[in-house]
Amino acid sequence: MQPATGKLGVLCVGLGAVSTTLISGVLALRKGYGLPGGSVTQMAKVRVGRGKDRQYLPVSELVPLASTDDIVFGAWDIFPQNAYEAARCAGVLQPDDLEQIHAELEQIRPMAAAFDPDYVTRLAGQGGNVKQGTRRGLTESLRADIKRFREENGCSRIVVIWAASTEKLIDYSPAAHESLAAFEASLDSDDRATISPSMCYAYAALREGVPFVMGAPNLCIDIPAMWELADTERVPIAGKDFKTGQTLMKTVLAPMLRTRCLGLDGWFSTNILGNRDGEVLDAPENFRTKEVSKLGVIDTILAPNEQPELYGDIYHKVRINYYPPRGDNKESWDNLDIFGWMGRKYGMQIKVNFLCRDSILAAPVALDLVLCIDLAARAGLYGNQPWLAFFLKSPMHNEWHGEQPLHDLFQQYTVLKNKLRELGGYEPDEELE
Ligand SMILES: NC(=O)c1ccc[n+]([C@@H]2O[C@H](COP(=O)([O-])OP(=O)(O)OC[C@H]3O[C@@H](n4cnc5c(N)ncnc54)[C@H](O)[C@@H]3O)[C@@H](O)[C@H]2O)c1
Repeated sequence: MQPATGKLGVLCVGLGAVSTTLISGVLALRKGYGLPGGSVTQMAKVRVGRGKDRQYLPVSELVPLASTDDIVFGAWDIFPQNAYEAARCAGVLQPDDLEQIHAELEQIRPMAAAFDPDYVTRLAGQGGNVKQGTRRGLTESLRADIKRFREENGCSRIVVIWAASTEKLIDYSPAAHESLAAFEASLDSDDRATISPSMCYAYAALREGVPFVMGAPNLCIDIPAMWELADTERVPIAGKDFKTGQTLMKTVLAPMLRTRCLGLDGWFSTNILGNRDGEVLDAPENFRTKEVSKLGVIDTILAPNEQPELYGDIYHKVRINYYPPRGDNKESWDNLDIFGWMGRKYGMQIKVNFLCRDSILAAPVALDLVLCIDLAARAGLYGNQPWLAFFLKSPMHNEWHGEQPLHDLFQQYTVLKNKLRELGGYEPDEELE
C-alpha cells in the first residue's frame, strides 16, 4: 500500500448541486465547522479482532485514507460560474455557510465541458463553457486538462468523479462497446450515437492512470471496453449512481420483508424534485436511464425465483416529477402492498414519506467514493471495485461472467467492512449470509 502523501486532486465532472455541496462541506470541515454526517469514512468505526482482542477503529485509523485537508478540487461544467456562484445557484447550502468559504470557492472555476446537447436536451444551448471537437478530440482535450491540473496544483494523485447530469439512455452496442479496440475505432470515427460525453471523460481519466467514479446511472464505464481499459491501465473504477434517498430506503426495507418472509404485491415510488437534476430528468429519455437504475433493486434482493409465492408477481413503478418550488429538497412517497399470514386476503400497506435534501445525502457518499477509490489505487487494486456497492444504486457487475449485483444495504456494508479490514492488514472475518 502506497502512503497517502501529497495532495489528492478531485476533479468533479459537473459543478452543480452535488459537487458544490461536497466541495463546500470539505472546505467547511477544514475551517472547523460543519459535521461530516452521512460519511462512513469520516464517522464510522469498524470492528477488528474477536473476543478479548476486539476493538472498534475509525476508518481513518484502520486504513491509510487521504485526509480531507489534502484534497484540491477542480471541475468541468458547461456553465462558467465559479463554485461560489454555482453553490448559490444550486441553493442547497445557506448563504451564511457559503460566506465563510467564499474566497476558496471563488478560486474553483470550471474547465470547459465535453458536452453534447443530444445527451441532455434540457440543457441544450445553455452555459456556453463547452469544448468543440470530435469525440477523439474531446478525450485529448480532457487528458490535457487532467495533466495541467495535476501540474499546476502539485497533486500526487487524481480522482475523477462524475456528478454531472444524467445522460439519455443509450443501449449497449457490441460494435462500439464490446472491446477496447472497438471503442477506440468508434472514437476515431466520431460515432456520437454510441460514444457519450461521459465515456470521453472516463476514457481520458483511465488513459491518464486516474481512477473514475460514475455517480449517475449513465452507461459510461459499465461496458467491457472500459473494463478492459481499466485492467490495461491498472486503474480502479466504480459505479453507478449514488445511492441516497428512496433507493437507500428500498435496500433497507426489502431485506426486512425477505427476512420476515412477508410477501410483496406492489411497490409504487414517486418523487417531486425541483433542482436542475429534476429538470434534466423531466426529459423521458433521461428519466429512462434513472428508471432502469432504480428498478433493478427489488428483484435482486427478493429473489422471486426462490420465493415465487411471496415475490413472484411484483408490480414496481417509479416516477420522478419536476416541481421547481421544492428545489433540492426532494420529497418522496413510497407505497408498499404487502401480505403475510393467510395470504393476500389480509393484505397490509407500508407508506414512507421521505422529506430529504438530495445533495446533503449525496455529498458524503461522493466523498466516501473518492477516498475509497484513491485507497484502492494505492493498494494496487484495479478494474471494477464491487466492495463500493454500498454507496451505489446500480452497482456494476459483469453479467457476461454471471456476476450478480449486491443490493441489500447490510450485505453491502459487510463486504465494505471486510475489504477495509483486509486493506488495513486485519482478517476480513465477517461472513456474508
Ligand atoms: N443528489 C442525489 O441524491 C443524487 C443521487 C444519485 C445520483 N445523482 C446524480 O448526480 C448527478 C448530479 O446531480 P446534481 O443534483 O448535482 O445535478 P445538477 O444539475 O445540479 O448538476 C449537474 C451539473 O452537470 C453539468 N453538466 C451536464 N453535462 C455535463 C458535461 N457533459 N460535462 C460537464 N458538466 C456537465 C450541468 O451543467 C450541471 O451544472 C446527476 O446525474 C444526478 O442524477 C444525484
